[in-house]
Amino acid sequence: MLVSAKEMLEKAKAGHYAVGQFNINNLEWTKAILQTAQECSSPVILGVSEGAGKYMCGYKTVVGMVNGMLEELNITVPVALHLDHGSYDGCMKCIEAGFSSVMFDGSHDPIEENVKKTTELVRITGEKGMSLEAEVGAIGGEEDGVVGTGECADPKECKAIADLGVTMLAAGIGNIHGKYPENWAGLSFETLDAIQQLTGEMPLVLHGGTGIPEDMIKKAISLGVAKINVNTECQLSFADATRKYIEAGKDLEGKGFDPRKLLAPGAEAIKATVKEKMELFGSVGKA
Ligand code: 13P
Repeated sequence: MLVSAKEMLEKAKAGHYAVGQFNINNLEWTKAILQTAQECSSPVILGVSEGAGKYMCGYKTVVGMVNGMLEELNITVPVALHLDHGSYDGCMKCIEAGFSSVMFDGSHDPIEENVKKTTELVRITGEKGMSLEAEVGAIGGEEDGVVGTGECADPKECKAIADLGVTMLAAGIGNIHGKYPENWAGLSFETLDAIQQLTGEMPLVLHGGTGIPEDMIKKAISLGVAKINVNTECQLSFADATRKYIEAGKDLEGKGFDPRKLLAPGAEAIKATVKEKMELFGSVGKA
């Protein structure tokens, strides 16, 4: 059964480790991530962007697929199904479809608007026992066509949003989605520290988990980050393994590529990436 991310993140924050959010795009990715979480005895959060939700034929299809897998694969570790960077309407759709967690990304709205919509979602998700992630300070890079510049959040605004009763808070600290440019200034630990000082027990979320050096990840966890999102790295490892398989010409019998065989190396590559991240984040054995 899907669970809210609240308990796993509170445990992570108290235990000084982080739970990985891995974004899913299809059946193979979902299966690979769930199997790895089970093998690693780690809690896990499956992230679904609005674009990926559309691609997978809508949120109800995603809920049906994930719930089916939890049962058929005998998954016993805690799993949350979470909308990533949702609009207000997207959150409402996921709440109705049976997600166990949503992120409302009001970081592009004026803070008053962000507060208003987040307040409403705190009430609705609270009634359903779901977890809610809010965002302050746009995360840079591109996410489903939305481009941010990697700004640093205002710690006072973070406190205002945290006090509304959200479960977890994503705050921009110079992080960006996708690959980091050569001249990236690194994470602003000063900002992160100030945010944690003001928000206390609130589990903080680090977006843009691909390509952040290991020492920075560890430091971020020591400063209150309890959830780290990874997407691009899984995409890269999936694509690389698939390309190698095709280049090796494994359809030699002239029958064309068997889709199950074609996608298997990519799924294995995702498993390896997810395992590596779970080890780095310290969530192995914490289920
Ligand atoms: P990356 O694509 O940089 O790993 O970021 C993922 C993310 O933050 C999803 O919200």
